[in-house]
Amino acid sequence: MLIDTHTHLYLDDFSSEESAVVERAISAGVQKLVFPNVDISTIEPMRKLHDCFPDNIFMAMGLHPTEVDGAWGDTLGVVEKELIKHRNDYIAIGEIGIDLYWDKTYKDQQMEVFSIQVEWANKYNLPIIIHCREGLSEVLEVLKNASSVPTGVFHSFGGTIEDVEAIRSIGDFYFGINGIVTFKNSKLKNVLPAIGADRILLETDSPYLAPVPYRGKRNESSYIVKTAQTVSEALDIPFEKVAELTSENAERLFKLNNNL
Ligand code: NI
Repeated sequence: MLIDTHTHLYLDDFSSEESAVVERAISAGVQKLVFPNVDISTIEPMRKLHDCFPDNIFMAMGLHPTEVDGAWGDTLGVVEKELIKHRNDYIAIGEIGIDLYWDKTYKDQQMEVFSIQVEWANKYNLPIIIHCREGLSEVLEVLKNASSVPTGVFHSFGGTIEDVEAIRSIGDFYFGINGIVTFKNSKLKNVLPAIGADRILLETDSPYLAPVPYRGKRNESSYIVKTAQTVSEALDIPFEKVAELTSENAERLFKLNNNL
């Protein structure tokens, strides 16, 4: 069994094919999928697809950093209302964080919105799913200033051994590894031993970042097998063992304790 710990199969990219894509994932051995929310427009489609596969799909609620703008207060209010209304439906706060790659205009607002959501995680005792793109020092600053540092995952991790150490100096975090690790010029393979098999989560980040040989195409959760194979080679651990260890990691972090 594999677990895709970060996938957005409810987005328009999969229009009318969502159920087929989930079924393909299950057939490929991906029996559990974690859906992180993006913004207020994605809550309904995410919940709808979840309701078709309630034993396989787990959801996280949060506001993505690229969706933070001058009107963030109202947006975040809607997200918080949803979290409170369906508290037991959500296994994590996410995805949340800092993204200064596309636009730095709302950096201060992104940090404030991230900080507020980190406190939701503390309040509800939930892990966080962190999106961090060109914002590691800002993410670490927010975490250091939090009332307490929740556990969580640095999703789509593509950093260095130094980044791993900087993150570990703040708290106990997992690292989400996706198709990036399969890219020919990626140095991420060399970082995996420093992370260790006990802190690696597998993910696809579908529809983005498809692994080789699907690079550049629309990604889907069944392709996670390719990423697992690369992780297996990089760590010199058999594929079945990688599947077992990374699934245990996901179940431990997100408390996915319904047994399939
Ligand atoms: Ni995402």
